Amino acid sequence: MLTSETIHPDLQGQSVEKAAVHRIGRIKRAEAQAAGVLLHGEKAGLSLTFLAEGMVRIRQFLGAAPEQATTPAVLPQPKADDFKLEESDTAYKASAAGLTVSVSKENGIFSVFGSGGGCLFEGKDLTWDAHRRITLTAAMTDDSHFYGLGEKTGFLDKKGERYEMWNSDVYAPHVPDTEALYQSIPFLIHYRFGEAACGVFLDDPGRTAFDMRTGGDRYAVQSESGNLDLYVLGGPKLKDVVKRYAALTGKPPMPPLWAIGYQQSRYSYMNQEDLLETARTMRAKRIPCDVLYLDIHYMEEYKVFTWDPARFPDPRGMMADLAEMGFHVVPIVDPGVKKDPKYPIYREGVERGCFCSKLEGDLFIGSVWPGPSAFTDYTDDKAAKWWGDLHQFYIDSGIKGIWNDMNEPSVFDTSSKTMDEDVVHANNGDPKTHGEWHNLYGMLMSKATYEGMARGLGGERPFVLTRAGYAGIQRYAAVWTGDNRSYWEHLAMSIPMVLNLGLSGVAFAGPDIGGFAHHTSGELVARWTQMGALFPFCRNHSAIDVIRQEPWRFGDRIEAVCREALNLRYRLMPYLYSLFYEATTTGLPIVRPLLLEYPEDRRAANLCDQFLLGRDLLAAPILRPGAAARSVYLPEGVWIDYRTGERLEGGRHVLADAPLEVMPLYVRAGAILPEQPLRQHTGEAAEGPLTLKVYAGGEGSFSLFEDDGKTFGYEQGAYRLREFVWTESGGERTLSARLLHDGLREEAAVGLEEPAGAAASELMIAIAGLGSEPASVVLNEGDKPLDCRYDSVRGIFEMTLPNKREFRLTLQLS
Ligand code: GLC
Repeated sequence: MLTSETIHPDLQGQSVEKAAVHRIGRIKRAEAQAAGVLLHGEKAGLSLTFLAEGMVRIRQFLGAAPEQATTPAVLPQPKADDFKLEESDTAYKASAAGLTVSVSKENGIFSVFGSGGGCLFEGKDLTWDAHRRITLTAAMTDDSHFYGLGEKTGFLDKKGERYEMWNSDVYAPHVPDTEALYQSIPFLIHYRFGEAACGVFLDDPGRTAFDMRTGGDRYAVQSESGNLDLYVLGGPKLKDVVKRYAALTGKPPMPPLWAIGYQQSRYSYMNQEDLLETARTMRAKRIPCDVLYLDIHYMEEYKVFTWDPARFPDPRGMMADLAEMGFHVVPIVDPGVKKDPKYPIYREGVERGCFCSKLEGDLFIGSVWPGPSAFTDYTDDKAAKWWGDLHQFYIDSGIKGIWNDMNEPSVFDTSSKTMDEDVVHANNGDPKTHGEWHNLYGMLMSKATYEGMARGLGGERPFVLTRAGYAGIQRYAAVWTGDNRSYWEHLAMSIPMVLNLGLSGVAFAGPDIGGFAHHTSGELVARWTQMGALFPFCRNHSAIDVIRQEPWRFGDRIEAVCREALNLRYRLMPYLYSLFYEATTTGLPIVRPLLLEYPEDRRAANLCDQFLLGRDLLAAPILRPGAAARSVYLPEGVWIDYRTGERLEGGRHVLADAPLEVMPLYVRAGAILPEQPLRQHTGEAAEGPLTLKVYAGGEGSFSLFEDDGKTFGYEQGAYRLREFVWTESGGERTLSARLLHDGLREEAAVGLEEPAGAAASELMIAIAGLGSEPASVVLNEGDKPLDCRYDSVRGIFEMTLPNKREFRLTLQLS
């Protein structure tokens, strides 16, 4: 807790400018490099390396040349092949990959310009102090808006805020001035309406800061490592910047289909019967659910890779019963390994030299749940492999997903609440102090876990959930936003948090639904479930000392609201799953701020009490108790109320009715929404056809992704991608289906299953909003007419088509 001492005048932060003492100084010479140049200044140098289109890496260095290596956040990148250097009296102009970096000869200050000539990044100063704390400042204007930075509190637009990057276990508070939480993603998007968007990624896993508050007309990027390793990413569009960042730090792999089902957790389901009873209740009450969690009480004395024999006497039997009911189980695995010479994992870790230690050789021992514990050094391939292989313990019980927690790492008994900064990580012979690489600890733990699980699962896709992470975490794990509270404010704040995570590469994210700490209420669980059912990661979780918050704990009405919300998620699963595929291939987020799809719309600049799921669904959750209506901003175009079918002109606010049973939800006219029949878990066989719901009154398309939902086969092409396109021209309306990829056809011969989720050989097409009856309906496969029944009462076209068929449905309106 803070006291008044924190505002003591002598403790107030020095302004950046006053503390700074060194600058690059006059540039003395240029030295050619592959796809770039080294510019040697009086006090330091600047290295420019041009990568793929729209990406440049800019480093400040002391000495002859910068270090070549990148951190594990960055994937190997191609280098530009069109590098050019021009020199004038005042500046060097380096260009390639559609970007130009102009460096002042007088002082080494740099700016970056896009291919259209517009300035993306206008450098103002680059300084460092006696402690080598580096500060880079760049111009911002009244019209500047800032996004990204991963998991931060506050609103969507980060203008006027300052944040630190230092992974921290913050049980409380999560409030707007909380500068650091569990994740550190030093990636900032600078956006000005009418100008090209720009991304700035500071690849530094030590303590860094982004300050869009205190510099007047400048924003600042700071690092304490003494290095500046910066990537500037051009647009021109916001989406381009997000995609380039994903190309740099990686796209998320496809999760197993079950991992995007609803998940139920509790700290803790205390014993086998408690967990089984939860599972049975889910099924009896017909609340769709795929995953149950085991928190720390499943372990004996909180020792990872053990079962508590009293609480969980028959884990395999329990797992078999749960599998029978269609549940997956995800146990928590923390990094702390109990210091106990009788505990084989501890002994083995010590003997193999897998734990973190000080330079002098002492193990770092810190207290967490099991008491004094050692921590695996995941920077070292040997230790990471050892850790990963230990997961065979879980795999042998039928487990395919792991929950990594406390991996900032959180340590209870150090004053910093984390690992000592002078711990030295082995990093395969290139040692780094913990201070230098703190923010990578959680990500490298999840990497070791993901890779170990993938090895053990023999071709099946594992699922990993993590609390801590750094840029690139999306390659290994989904992210939940840690220990929120059952406050309405936290329900509201989880929207901008998840949206900015999505803009920062982490598509698969979500908060604890219902709130973790503090006692929740039925109304809050209902409203949070309505919203959370449309988030990529959808898990209800609550703390040890608060009332139970499964959907049925608050009476029939709340239970029904939650059921209906989750039913919607399961009906929309083909839509959601296809959006995961889009994230896998492009890096674009699954839930999106309106601004991403409507980048010209100033009203969307800081809009974060509503969001888009993909491009076509707009959700406006209720964020206050007792509210039965809310104002919703509909962007330009026509929007259709998902529930009532009412058509609304966009570009304005509307007042939406929202009694407890209703979360306002709209579909963009022109959208094609694939929906499947309801099921209780993703592994349940499909009954009934896939329905394509077409919302006429605009044009649109949708690419439907299908695979087996569980293997890595899709990486080798074992998937089907169908594009549906809806067009409107005069009185003619057409819906066409085209196979963009049909990898399942060949695979069928080698025994690959048809997808569990969305394989339907019958298709129903429901077209809403045609305006008038079709005078003629023609269904063709190429030139060949096909059979199609039209139910004019329900406005539904029914056809039986093998999935492989391409077709064209043409309607002439009367
Ligand atoms: C941490 C986690 C929380 C978990 C608890 C016990 O607080 O954030 O989700 O339930 O530890 O393991």
